[in-house]
Amino acid sequence: MERTVIQVIATMMVFLTLGFQPVFSQVELTRTGCGTTKFCLEDPDKCNPAVNTTPCLFGSAKATAFNSLTGIDLTFELSGNSTGYIALGLTQDASVGSTMLFVCAQNSSSNGTFFFKTMTLHNVNKTLTSQDKNVTGIQNSVVGENIKCKFSVSNLNATAQTRANADTTFSVVIGSGQLNGDTLGPFNLARNSGPLDLSVFLPNSTTNTTAPPSGANRPLYSNAVLPLLSFLTLSILKFA
Ligand SMILES: *[C@@H]1O[C@H](CO)[C@@H](O)[C@H](O)[C@H]1NC(C)=O
Ligand SMILES: *[C@@H]1O[C@H](CO)[C@@H](O)[C@H](O)[C@H]1NC(C)=O
Ligand SMILES: *[C@@H]1O[C@H](CO)[C@@H](O)[C@H](O)[C@H]1NC(C)=O
Ligand SMILES: *[C@@H]1O[C@H](CO)[C@@H](O)[C@H](O)[C@H]1NC(C)=O
Ligand SMILES: *[C@@H]1O[C@H](CO)[C@@H](O)[C@H](O)[C@H]1NC(C)=O
Ligand SMILES: *[C@@H]1O[C@H](CO)[C@@H](O)[C@H](O)[C@H]1NC(C)=O
Ligand SMILES: *[C@@H]1O[C@H](CO)[C@@H](O)[C@H](O)[C@H]1NC(C)=O
Ligand SMILES: *[C@@H]1O[C@H](CO)[C@@H](O)[C@H](O)[C@H]1NC(C)=O
Repeated sequence: MERTVIQVIATMMVFLTLGFQPVFSQVELTRTGCGTTKFCLEDPDKCNPAVNTTPCLFGSAKATAFNSLTGIDLTFELSGNSTGYIALGLTQDASVGSTMLFVCAQNSSSNGTFFFKTMTLHNVNKTLTSQDKNVTGIQNSVVGENIKCKFSVSNLNATAQTRANADTTFSVVIGSGQLNGDTLGPFNLARNSGPLDLSVFLPNSTTNTTAPPSGANRPLYSNAVLPLLSFLTLSILKFA
């Protein structure tokens, strides 16, 4: 009996340690894969988001799947110092139309609490309007001025935004801005990649699926948590 209790407590501790550890872990971004498995854009050129001593606004985009009927799935990384927000945008042409802007921000009136927003940036008059987008797997860390985030967006289609014939060709932009109370101040563009076919960053094994997208909303830590859950269940069964 005593042994079983100890076993259950030990199991609980393993569960707590392993199960909850990822939730509190910081987002760590590196240049690994830049130019081969992910597209990277940074200001200044080639700066490293893992090094905090010099200024570095860094954005990356990795294609995870492409479906010719619905579009491309992308995972993004963003890092930079700001007391307001940093943002990554996708646009067909940064001089006309609009930019889909993904914003990672810290709220200085709430102890630097992280928040995420999707916006439309009107490229001509530079105004920002709120725009809902399905973003999944948002991870973040805010340390002092440094904001880092990671997120995924499914079914992006360049031609659904404006008329063009290149579905996976976007210009990627990165920049930052301040917060004026609860509203986002003007977006200050730092870099614009120019038109870029993001499908070249698809993993070789997953190119050209035409099947309907699946598993896009997979829970983040299912791989780690499932074995732990069964382990825990087994121990409880044993206890009973
Ligand atoms: C993108 O949208 C356009 C128009 O809505 C459509 O013709 C095209 O097939 C779509 N492409 C992809 C890759 O989803
Ligand atoms: C703000 O953060 C500091 C440092 O982590 C902490 O000591 C303080 O209690 C926090 N204040 C609020 C209102 O959360
Ligand atoms: C900016 O441009 C957009 C798109 O053309 C338009 O809908 C919006 O009303 C404009 N906003 C201002 C403040 O001019
Ligand atoms: C977001 O995803 C849900 C379920 O996957 C879907 O029903 C909804 O239409 C999506 N919303 C947008 C704005 O794409
Ligand atoms: C960025 O912010 C972090 C955390 O506040 C700080 O340690 C670092 O010195 C800052 N980097 C630059 C280049 O200002
Ligand atoms: C920032 O925090 C303040 C104080 O908690 C809150 O009133 C405000 O709505 C927050 N702003 C945003 C954009 O989340
Ligand atoms: C795909 O395979 C080619 C040739 O082996 C390689 O050069 C390229 O880096 C690979 N791309 C990705 C995204 O893995
Ligand atoms: C994917 O398949 C379609 C039709 O089967 C073809 O037109 C297209 O070029 C292929 N794309 C890639 C990236 O292989």
